[in-house]
Amino acid sequence: MNLGFFASGSGSNFEAVAKRCRSGELAAEPTVVICNVSDAGVFARAKRFGVPCFLVRRDDFTQGREFASRLLEILREHQVELVLLAGYLRKLPPAVAQAYPNRVLNIHPALLPSFGGKGMYGARVHEAVLAAGCRVTGVTVHIVDSEYDRGLIVLQRTVEVKDGDDPATLAARVLKVEHEIYGDVVKLFIENRVRVEGDRVRILSQVR
Ligand code: GRF
Repeated sequence: MNLGFFASGSGSNFEAVAKRCRSGELAAEPTVVICNVSDAGVFARAKRFGVPCFLVRRDDFTQGREFASRLLEILREHQVELVLLAGYLRKLPPAVAQAYPNRVLNIHPALLPSFGGKGMYGARVHEAVLAAGCRVTGVTVHIVDSEYDRGLIVLQRTVEVKDGDDPATLAARVLKVEHEIYGDVVKLFIENRVRVEGDRVRILSQVR
């Protein structure tokens, strides 16, 4: 299965999935990365894996439509079958999710629907979790939907909040789980075990 990634930052989630592809553990191939930040770390990581990384910024296009067309063109040229947002800090044009129904995923470093939404990314998520006094946080992988902001949850995993945690120590513990769960979700898609049924996702336990 060909994977396409969108990233804005360091790209450690890209690397974690790419490693499991290259080791043969996942029957998938990272075919392309699209990034909207010119000096993002993901460029170097993609290069190390021999995966092309394209800089595509909304501001380089006058029309949103042209921006969406360029993104779709890249995804199609690289025969992408599953799209993974991996630290992509821009709203994806709805046309992309429309072109890949239920096959655009995002990873969020908390247990949605808590600690999500506009402005909730990076350290802010972990600061909010700590400020709320939560004893657990976690990771959510959800489907990106163009029409409804449903964000149907595919998989979640909890992470303990420890006494004395600060946003950085908590982020590091959460990131470790991010690196495991995204590949696990890709595996579920490869095994065709993910079903969207109304407003929820069902994971089939039997591999056919
Ligand atoms: C991760 O915490 C991810 O959940 C969030 O942004 C961070 C990206 O990390 N959306 P990286 O760029 O994959 O290293």
